[in-house]
This record gives sequence, structure tokens and C-alpha cells, in this order.
Amino acid sequence: MTSPVSINQQTIHQALSDFTLPWSPNTRLLDANIIENMIIEGQKIHLTLNIAKVPEDAAEPLRAKVEHRLQQIEGIVQARVFLNTGEGNNKRLVFPPRQAASANAAQQKPATPHQAHKHAPIKPTGPIEALQDVKCIIAVASGKGGVGKSSTAINLAVSLANQGLKVGLMDADVYGPSVPHMLGLEGQVEVINHKLIPMTAWGISAMSIGMLVPPEQALIWRGPMVMGAIKQLLSDVKWGELDILLVDTPPGTGDVQLTLTQSIQIDGAIIVSTPQDVALLDARRGIAMFQKAKTPILGIVENMAYFSCPCCNEKTYIFGENGAKKEANNLGFPFLGEIPLIPAIRSGADVGVPIVAQDPDSIAAKAYQEISELMVPVIKRLTVQRANKKPEATPE
Ligand SMILES: Nc1ncnc2c1ncn2[C@@H]1O[C@H](COP(=O)(O)OP(=O)(O)O)[C@@H](O)[C@H]1O
Ligand SMILES: [Mg+2]
Repeated sequence: MTSPVSINQQTIHQALSDFTLPWSPNTRLLDANIIENMIIEGQKIHLTLNIAKVPEDAAEPLRAKVEHRLQQIEGIVQARVFLNTGEGNNKRLVFPPRQAASANAAQQKPATPHQAHKHAPIKPTGPIEALQDVKCIIAVASGKGGVGKSSTAINLAVSLANQGLKVGLMDADVYGPSVPHMLGLEGQVEVINHKLIPMTAWGISAMSIGMLVPPEQALIWRGPMVMGAIKQLLSDVKWGELDILLVDTPPGTGDVQLTLTQSIQIDGAIIVSTPQDVALLDARRGIAMFQKAKTPILGIVENMAYFSCPCCNEKTYIFGENGAKKEANNLGFPFLGEIPLIPAIRSGADVGVPIVAQDPDSIAAKAYQEISELMVPVIKRLTVQRANKKPEATPE
């Protein structure tokens, strides 16, 4: 077996040594000081070109050529080049269209007018404009992964839509965006008038980083890239009028949560916890983060609370009963309800059909339904509060 070729900064510099700037042909790319955030992980390269001083359209051919050249380096399995159109704290990443990730990106046939329209550059505006018709924003969070945040967010979103609310779901889990898969959404996001148009499924609108970049890509992103991606999801998506925007967050208390709470007004957070999670107090970390950001905790949902026998519906509390309820009481938060551990929740997610849509009369669907019914008056209250608050400044 041959060992993989070692890729380092020098390899990349060599590959790009003869590149010049299209807008300044006498300036070498390597001398222009516009390469930033170079990440080399094994056989993968990600880098960003800062093009704050030139229009995005003028820089796109350079981006494509650089990406193509990097993809030709021996041993490279993935090369992605982003454009950053901002300066300082005003960074804004431009996601290359998905197809451009392929090895022959620069040799692709020219886009048809329809495709070209879809890939039109996205102009930043800032969250205020993009979210101005969103009446209420609620984050779904947890201390650790795999507790069922996305399942809860999706099923609550669909339940709320079934009750007549206009619902949006933003998947902010850049490291593991599962919303597209769980909602059965495929294909390319449309861009109209420089805005990303959310995809729709099961009566809700949804947007996810997983619809914009290949799933494996975001896994290697670090702080600034993640923050840029979240800011872009906030500012470049045309949600239109929504009664409620649910935000599915990654586990823990990292860059995503920080960027979200610093960039927009989140009206409340729902904490999802499993019985074991409650015992280990993982949920408390998530709670503490939102409290620090002064985001009200709306309550705790206990997921996988009990096993429901498919034959007789008998409830078995494998990890003990009422753990999350007691914890919610101790912390002074509402207990919103318990969701059973049911294979159909997982299999529904696997085929892109949320259980509340697939089997609305099931125990699981009814459990989500009950929680969503509790949420409706809360959403109304938060909507009034939000409307009465002065809009916050546009994030940097
Ligand atoms: N109540 C449940 N019963 C059965 N499977 C569940 C339940 N909740 C979540 N799952 C499954 O557990 C896995 C993790 O859930 P997910 O919602 O992706 O968690 P998170 O978003 O917190 O990482 C998924 O495969 C999901 O389908
Ligand atoms: Mg998730």
C-alpha cells in the first residue's frame, strides 16, 4: 500500500505560484495577501479568498480556477475555495454551488440561463431584513448530541404547521446537518433576487447548511467559517412571513450558539434531554449558555423517556420515571412533555417522513402534538414581546 502524499502549505503555494489576479494582472495571487483560513486536513484543503475590494462576479472565475488547480494536486481528495466578500468582522462567505465541488468543476459546461439564475451571487443584507417578517424565534438545544434535538425540532415544526401556524425550520447544526435528510429534501436550493429560498416539506419551510455544501465539508470547519456560515444563514435566506422560526442547534455551547445569540434576538429556547442526560446534568450546560445570553428557557422536553410496547402500548421507564420533570422543577422551568422511544421515530426520520406526518394517531405523534399545543400560547406571548422590543442592530 502506498502512503498518502503529504499536503502542506508549500504544496499549495507551489500549485498556485503562477496565478495572478484577473483584476490586477501584474499581481501574483500569492503576493496579494488575500488567501486566508487555509485549512489542510489530511488530503483535504479548504481556503478562503478575501475579495473585499472587488465585486463577487469578478472574483468567481479566480475562485473556480484556484479550486480546480488544488483539486489536481496529487493525493488531494477534496479542495474547496470560498470567497469572503467582507473585511474585519464583516466577513461573509460565499458558498460555491454544490456541483462545483466535483473534480472537474472548472471544466463544467456553462450553466443554462435557469441554472445561472439559481447560482446568482447572494447579496448580504443583515438579519434584520431577512428576519423582519419572522414573528418569533425559538432555539431547540441540548447539552450533548444524539438526544433527539433534530427529531424534536422537526416533529414540533410539522405539528405547529398542522395547527395552522406558518413555520420555518433553520438547521444551524453546521457540523451534522440532519434536517434535509429527516425531511426528505434533496436537490439544489433556489436563489431568487440574491436570496436563498427555503425548501418546503410537510407544510414547513426549511433551510440547512446541508442543502448548500456537501455533508462532509462542514465537518472540518473551524470557528470563523462556522460563524460566517451561521451569519449567512441568518441574513441570506428569504423566510418571508413566519409565525415561528425554530432553530435546530448543534449540541453544546460552541461557536454556533454564540453567533446565534449575539446576532439575533432568540425569543426562547427549548431544551431537549434524555433521562440519562438529565442524570448526567449535561442539559444544564446548554441551559446555562442560554441563560448567560439572557434567552428565556421555555421548558424541557424529555426524549426517549420510556419505551412504548408496540403490541400493548405499555410504558416502560427504562431509565427511571420523571427525571426530567423533577429536574425542570428544581431549575424552575416548565416541563413540556415526554416523547417515547419508538423505532418509527427513527425509521420515519431515515426515510424523510416525520412521524407526525406519517402516523398522526401514533403515541409518538400525539406526544409531539401535545407539546406543540402547549407552545402555541407561548409563541403568541413571545410574538407580542418581540413586536414590542426595539429591533437590534445588524450583526457585524
Ligand atoms: N424518541 C425517539 N425514538 C426513537 N429514535 C429516536 C427518538 N428520538 C431520536 N431518535 C433517533 O436518534 C437519533 C438521534 O436523534 P437526533 O434527533 O438526530 O438527535 P440530535 O439532533 O440531538 O443529535 C436519530 O437516529 C433519531 O432518528
Ligand atoms: Mg441534530
